[in-house]
Amino acid sequence: MDAADVSDDLLHVLYTEAQIQDRIKEMAADIERDYEGKELLIVGILRGAVMVMADMARSFHRHVEMDWMAVSSYGSGTKSSGVVRILKDLDTDISGRHVVIVDEIIDTGLTLSWLTSNLSSRNPASVEIATLLRKPEALQMPVDVKYVGWDIPNEFVVGYGLDYRERYRNLRDIGTLAPHVYS
Ligand code: IMP
Ligand code: MG
Repeated sequence: MDAADVSDDLLHVLYTEAQIQDRIKEMAADIERDYEGKELLIVGILRGAVMVMADMARSFHRHVEMDWMAVSSYGSGTKSSGVVRILKDLDTDISGRHVVIVDEIIDTGLTLSWLTSNLSSRNPASVEIATLLRKPEALQMPVDVKYVGWDIPNEFVVGYGLDYRERYRNLRDIGTLAPHVYS
């Protein structure tokens, strides 16, 4: 759906579909340059990273392997629980592999900081992080992120894979949610 379909629920659109596509192409180009001559596995974090993964993978002009993990760190609301649990592990043995974790947003950093050390313990050749969005003011755990689409203010955002109670993931754009939606 488009922002117009849920305009009453949005305070404003942060990034349009076109802006997102352009930025993801740039990120893919950066990654492609850095991994030239190396095999690459990108790991998407379900469910939010589905859109970023799909668009980023198709932006590459090279082969790339894709795998998925599902972790729980959030309840159904807008606050982090701080607890990370693996709900679905990788199907791939990553030892000796170059891995880029792809996520849609880093908020407190709890999820990705935990995930990075978890994947690093499996003896990969390398592990880096690519995220479309990052909220620097919300960061509680240091996370070394190599590829960032945009740094955004500490506001709750939805769309392009990002949900509020499982809604708005299929919104093409990214926007901030109006307070009346969660009050
Ligand atoms: P973190 O562990 O706090 O960095 O965030 C982990 C996950 O929380 C992200 O991958 C998202 O799935 C979710 N999340 C964080 N901020 C937002 C937001 O503004 N909107 C929707 N989901 C969010
Ligand atoms: Mg996520």
